[in-house]
Amino acid sequence: MSRPEPFPADFVFGAASSAYQIEGSPLADGAGPSIWHEFVRRPGVIDDGSSGDVACDHYHRYGDDIGIMRQLGLPAYRFSVSWSRIFPDGTGRINGPGLDFYRRLIDGLRQAGIEPYLTLYHWDLPAALDRRGGWFARDSAGWFADYAHTLFRALGDSVSHWMTLNEPWVVNDGGYLFGVHAPGRQSLQEPPRVAHNLLRAHALAVQAFRADGNGRIGLVVNLEPKYRESDSDADRIATDRAHAYMNRQYLDPVLLGHYPDELADIFAPHWPEFSSEDMKLLQEPFDFLGVNYYTRSVNRADPSHVIGAVPVRQSGAEYTEMGWEVYPQGLTETLLWIKRRYGDIPLYITENGAALADPAPVAGHIQDDHRIAYYRSHLRAVLDAMAQGANVKGYFAWSLLDNFEWSCGYTKRFGLVHVDYATQKRTPKASAEFYRKVIASRGAVLFS
Ligand code: FCB
Repeated sequence: MSRPEPFPADFVFGAASSAYQIEGSPLADGAGPSIWHEFVRRPGVIDDGSSGDVACDHYHRYGDDIGIMRQLGLPAYRFSVSWSRIFPDGTGRINGPGLDFYRRLIDGLRQAGIEPYLTLYHWDLPAALDRRGGWFARDSAGWFADYAHTLFRALGDSVSHWMTLNEPWVVNDGGYLFGVHAPGRQSLQEPPRVAHNLLRAHALAVQAFRADGNGRIGLVVNLEPKYRESDSDADRIATDRAHAYMNRQYLDPVLLGHYPDELADIFAPHWPEFSSEDMKLLQEPFDFLGVNYYTRSVNRADPSHVIGAVPVRQSGAEYTEMGWEVYPQGLTETLLWIKRRYGDIPLYITENGAALADPAPVAGHIQDDHRIAYYRSHLRAVLDAMAQGANVKGYFAWSLLDNFEWSCGYTKRFGLVHVDYATQKRTPKASAEFYRKVIASRGAVLFS
């Protein structure tokens, strides 16, 4: 195959983060608690017993962090807004100082020439709304649309790229089915309605945006190609179910107008009939799809598992500290699969990166060659997909900073920039310098 062209001039490079993972000071300036603020206080749920109480202290150090982004030459930055900073009770009263924090952040980004990409929901539901049923409550879609509408009005003059939900699959799988994430529910009955309410929330927010917003709005999903361990019928059926559950559950309804049949099977007898009005609402057109890509999985049938499939480790393959296989060609396949199945919707890679054991600093220098290799291979995989017709508009590295990795606490480091949590000192790793060169050369350095 001939060498693909490096990235086009209008391709957007950035780095991504989320509020609870980096900000710290979760109750500052009148904010209400989120479900993560409460969840981390349960004994045993976070590997190192930590919380996001301080995290990277970005709430106070955002100015320095913008300075780091500028040094890296980042054209764009994806971050999320913490809903309970804006609405401490989830609905009703607006907390001005919470909004002011994001105004300061966005103004700082703009002054540095960095384009803000704003995610409305990255998992930190106001705890007050969980007490009203959380995403299982049908009203949750309206609560979210009101919150979104408030931000469109308050920040719409300075933000032109918006994302509704980050990874609804993880919200539901971690939060409502297995309970390893906030709010820690373990239910077979709730997930079908949670999925549906999340997508109704997304669609109502897009409608509010059309009425009262500027720019472009999209949905962010995590996708993971599903392979089968063998060609047995059992492995084939199990792998199809895993694929329907993870990759199609949130895309088929919004882009094709129906849920995958496999879900009724998986969740029997709890899968409801949804009204045709609802199904029509879910198809509200949006402007782009954000794809978070980390790995693939190879599946084996296992009837004792809810979904009926379990992932199997591949001998000889490389795995990150998360136990995720390094599989760059899966990103190419995923991007092309979206185009084949759903059409030519503009795509952004909204997250991609790796938690790896970084070498110790030598004279303040962290030579994380394995992370450089990960970025190199995955950025090349994006180029491969584009050369084959995928409509990819941008790429965001996960993550700018080492941060609070949910149930793993601070035990996993995804950052381009190392954070010493005792001192809050930031040290760009060698991968940050590599990414700076990728951006500056529009990808040419990937081939040198
Ligand atoms: C994604 C999340 C993000 C981060 C990465 C590693 O699922 O969106 O917050 O935890 O995984």
